[in-house]
Amino acid sequence: MYKAKFNYQQTSFLTSAPDINALPPDTGIEVAFAGRSNAGKSSALNTLTRQNSLARTSKTPGRTQLINTFRLADEKRLIDLPGYGFAKVPLAVKEKWQKSLGEYLMKRQSLKGLVVLMDIRHPLKDLDQQLIYWAVQSNLSVLLLLTKADKLSPGPRKKTLLEVREASLAFMGDVTVHTFSSLNKQGLTELEQVLDSWYSRDEEADAQHES
Ligand code: GTP
Ligand code: MG
Repeated sequence: MYKAKFNYQQTSFLTSAPDINALPPDTGIEVAFAGRSNAGKSSALNTLTRQNSLARTSKTPGRTQLINTFRLADEKRLIDLPGYGFAKVPLAVKEKWQKSLGEYLMKRQSLKGLVVLMDIRHPLKDLDQQLIYWAVQSNLSVLLLLTKADKLSPGPRKKTLLEVREASLAFMGDVTVHTFSSLNKQGLTELEQVLDSWYSRDEEADAQHES
């Protein structure tokens, strides 16, 4: 059993921000969960933190409109970003959100990693690719999480994982790919391992300085 380095179950709600200007101070290390609406972002956060209703989940796509921020530990935050690509959202609202999402990825100093969640049955849509491209351009580490893995049987699941890993090479960045299910917790250890490494990075650099 993998023992996670950080106490993800001790994560607590911090703030809901209507836009990126209202986020907590830009210090420490931040990791954001992004993806199309309904991809399973809030569910994954709840699974990670072992809390049923920390991040709100919904059957109605586009439910999370605010940027919800959570405290994992001192100066370590998790962010639940609003979903993109929901057809019923007016174009002007979509464009405004895409613009502020781009701004957030490029300007936020504390943002070190981006988890891009994609339904394993519909991976790498145009907006997902755009987001991954932006993230790599901004020097962020990226984890592509193929969600709702319980919806596929093992063969097709493995096949999709390998295809997405292959396709992810084109982004030429620090891009990792895993499957995940909030329903049966498959992939939870892998998610924790990746987040552990992102949140420990500054410590490693400090340790090297000291030695
Ligand atoms: P928005 O906030 O609207 O952008 O959506 P979201 O990405 O936060 O998705 P959310 O976690 O609310 O999940 C959307 C729907 O997918 C809900 O009905 C969840 O129950 C379902 N769902 C999420 N994860 C899984 C999973 O691993 N397996 C299955 N079978 N269903 C899931
Ligand atoms: Mg949500």
